[in-house]
Amino acid sequence: MAIRPILKMGNPALHVVSLPVADPGSAETRALIDDMRDTLESVSGIGLAAPQISVPLRVVLYCLPAARIPQGAATQPVPWTPLINPVITPLGDEKVDLWERCLSLPGLYARVPRHRHIEIRYQNIDAQWITRQCHGYHATLLQHECDHLDGVLYPARMPDASTLAYASEVCGPAGVYTYSVAEFDGT
Ligand code: NI
Repeated sequence: MAIRPILKMGNPALHVVSLPVADPGSAETRALIDDMRDTLESVSGIGLAAPQISVPLRVVLYCLPAARIPQGAATQPVPWTPLINPVITPLGDEKVDLWERCLSLPGLYARVPRHRHIEIRYQNIDAQWITRQCHGYHATLLQHECDHLDGVLYPARMPDASTLAYASEVCGPAGVYTYSVAEFDGT
């Protein structure tokens, strides 16, 4: 287990299309996921894609801690969850543009249009296929992370750059934006 350097925007390795994982249960995959978790915990992050630590494989690790969920929201916390070979299908045409940030663009926030409701299909470390529906913030988080697997950073999803902002200007010294219940739940 190890904390790995997180690549920043401008590094060409963030723009490659990552390869499928042939053996989700292998020792190598488990070691990768352990390193992703150590790396995330070292920066208090909740989502990371393998290419961000220089591994061009289709693996995302994320969680949705209770502390990040606004009071009164219906969204349930999600424990650390590896998504192996994930595929996202939008549910409907509705879009939202929530403030989002990325460990590869530290200190910045932007409003990025995303599908409000999605279905995601992925393999777990036992190679079982799992399908779940996600909404609001949870849906945008997963679209953001899975974009990394196709070499896409969020500025490429912005129709214009006018909402690109420093975190301190969007949410003050705390640096973490507080979502409304409706934004979070996608209602
Ligand atoms: Ni990111």
